[in-house]
Amino acid sequence: MKKKPIIAANWKMYVGSAEEGRALILETRRVTEKAKRVSTIVCPSFSFIAQAVSLCKKRKRLFVGAQNCFYEDAGAFTGEVGARELASIGATHVIIGHSERRSFGETNEIINKKVKAAIRAGLFVILCVGEKERDVDGHYLSFLRSEITAALSGVPGVDMRHIILAYEPVWAIGRGEKESMKPKELHETAIFARKVIAKEYGTDIAFDLPILYGGSIGPHNVKDHLEAGVEGLLVGHASAEKASIRAIIEAADAA
Ligand code: PGA
Repeated sequence: MKKKPIIAANWKMYVGSAEEGRALILETRRVTEKAKRVSTIVCPSFSFIAQAVSLCKKRKRLFVGAQNCFYEDAGAFTGEVGARELASIGATHVIIGHSERRSFGETNEIINKKVKAAIRAGLFVILCVGEKERDVDGHYLSFLRSEITAALSGVPGVDMRHIILAYEPVWAIGRGEKESMKPKELHETAIFARKVIAKEYGTDIAFDLPILYGGSIGPHNVKDHLEAGVEGLLVGHASAEKASIRAIIEAADAA
């Protein structure tokens, strides 16, 4: 049986006001409740998480996640937001290791510490990995393997149920739908990522691990990507616009 699709809506910093955020959540909620199979994880910036939690409370297949968290549980860390705080206000997921965060200097070591902090807080981690470019010699595969193994270093098998792997090739992010990754390439890469997990954790955990694809997903390429060996999609700019998130959730439900 096909697994039920997951749509993670990474608003990034596209939503500029509480009113805009509220309208977007209400539309996302409406279309998710109408759908039969899709689960949606709304990931607003920190400012709108409490609002999102209150609007999504007790709604079926609707969750709220953050786009980042800090790796310490508490202390003198001005401006940081801890995983425990996020969990305490009702967030259930957190995106960690997004390439836009890595570009601000987040290393594999920092990401590994954040993954562990999020698991300690009981959050589900949407762990982002992805190569900057694809070379003909296939070096991107060893790059991908090292990002996955470094981020999960020291994470025991029992905690892998907290992990959702988001494969986001950096070269495919923030473009038009036609410039997204080809489904055939995605299929091969998803198999590769599962093999990396299987080598570390065994085939059962690798099979159960949800893998999302992210990078220029829009209403017209949802179906092809969902048929390429992944369980869901991490959607950036198109998730911050009512018409496109509605069409994406509907397309995922029909896929
Ligand atoms: P995009 O972003 O859909 O805007 O390409 C995806 C992501 O970075 O999560």
